[in-house]
Amino acid sequence: MDHLAFNREAWDKKAARGSRWTVPVDSEVVAAARLGDWSVILTPTRPVPRDWFPTRMDCDLLALASGGGQQGPVLAAAGARVTVYDLSPAQLARDEEVAAREGLDLVTVPGDMADLSCFDDASFDLIFHPVANCFVPDLAPVWRECFRVLRPGGALLSGFMNPVHYVFDFEKAEKERVLDAVHPLPFADAVDLDQDALDRQRAEGWPLEWSHTLETQIGGQCVAGFHVTGFYEDVFGPEEDDLASRYTATMLATRAVKPGTP
Ligand SMILES: C[S@@+](CC[C@H](N)C(=O)[O-])C[C@H]1O[C@@H](n2cnc3c(N)ncnc32)[C@H](O)[C@@H]1O
Repeated sequence: MDHLAFNREAWDKKAARGSRWTVPVDSEVVAAARLGDWSVILTPTRPVPRDWFPTRMDCDLLALASGGGQQGPVLAAAGARVTVYDLSPAQLARDEEVAAREGLDLVTVPGDMADLSCFDDASFDLIFHPVANCFVPDLAPVWRECFRVLRPGGALLSGFMNPVHYVFDFEKAEKERVLDAVHPLPFADAVDLDQDALDRQRAEGWPLEWSHTLETQIGGQCVAGFHVTGFYEDVFGPEEDDLASRYTATMLATRAVKPGTP
C-alpha cells in the first residue's frame, strides 16, 4: 500500500473539513507573538516549555510535519526563519495563507518526513516536530535525517504517541465508549486491519497509523546521535474526549540535542 498517497489524501480531507489540527492561527495570536507573548504545542494541550527554545529566536527552524498554519506562523512571528515541511498541500496552504496575510518570514516545502534530501547538511538550528510520526512506518530515517540537517548544538523538539494508545479497539472506544485491549504492539493499520476496515478508514479520511515502540522513539533518537535533554507527558484535550486519556498519558514529548558547539 502507498502510505504516502493514502495519508496525503486523508490530511487534505481533514484540512477541507477543518479538523482541529488544520485551523490556522488568527491575527491576534500573530501580533502577540511579535511582541514576545507566544506559546506552541507539540502535543494536544501542554505548551512546550520556553526553555526548550533558544534564548534568541532568530534561528533557522524546520517545522517538520507541522502544516496547518499553527505553530509555523507563531514561531516565525517570534523571530525564527521558518520552513514548514509537510506531506499535505492543503496543510501547507494554511501556512502560506497566514504568512501572506501577516507578512511572515516563512516558506513551505512539500515532502515526506523520512526524506529530507532537499535540505543540505546542517541547515537548521531547531526542528519543531509535533505529533506526526505515527503516520510513517519507520522512524530510523526520520531521526537520521533530523540529525543530518541540524547544526551542531541544534535541538529537535518532538511530540509522539504513547504506543499504549494503540492497544485498544479504536472504533469501540469511539462509538461504544469501551476500552477493549485487542492489538498486541507494535500495531499498524496497514498490517493489522482487514480490507473492509481499511476501506472504511479511507472513505472517512482517517490516515494510516503505526504505533511504534518507545525503543524506536526515544532509543531511536539516541541511536541517531542525539542526547535527550527533556521529556514530558500529555493527554488528548476535551475536544477529542479520548477515553484512554482518562487513564494514562497518551502523548509524549522529548527535547534532543545534536552534540557539538554551535
Ligand atoms: C497532527 S498534524 C500536526 C500539525 C499540526 N499543526 C499540529 O498542531 O500538531 C500531522 C501533520 O503531519 C503531516 N504528515 C503526515 N504524514 C507525513 C509525512 N509522511 N511527512 C510529512 N508530513 C506528514 C500531515 O499532513 C499533518 O499536517
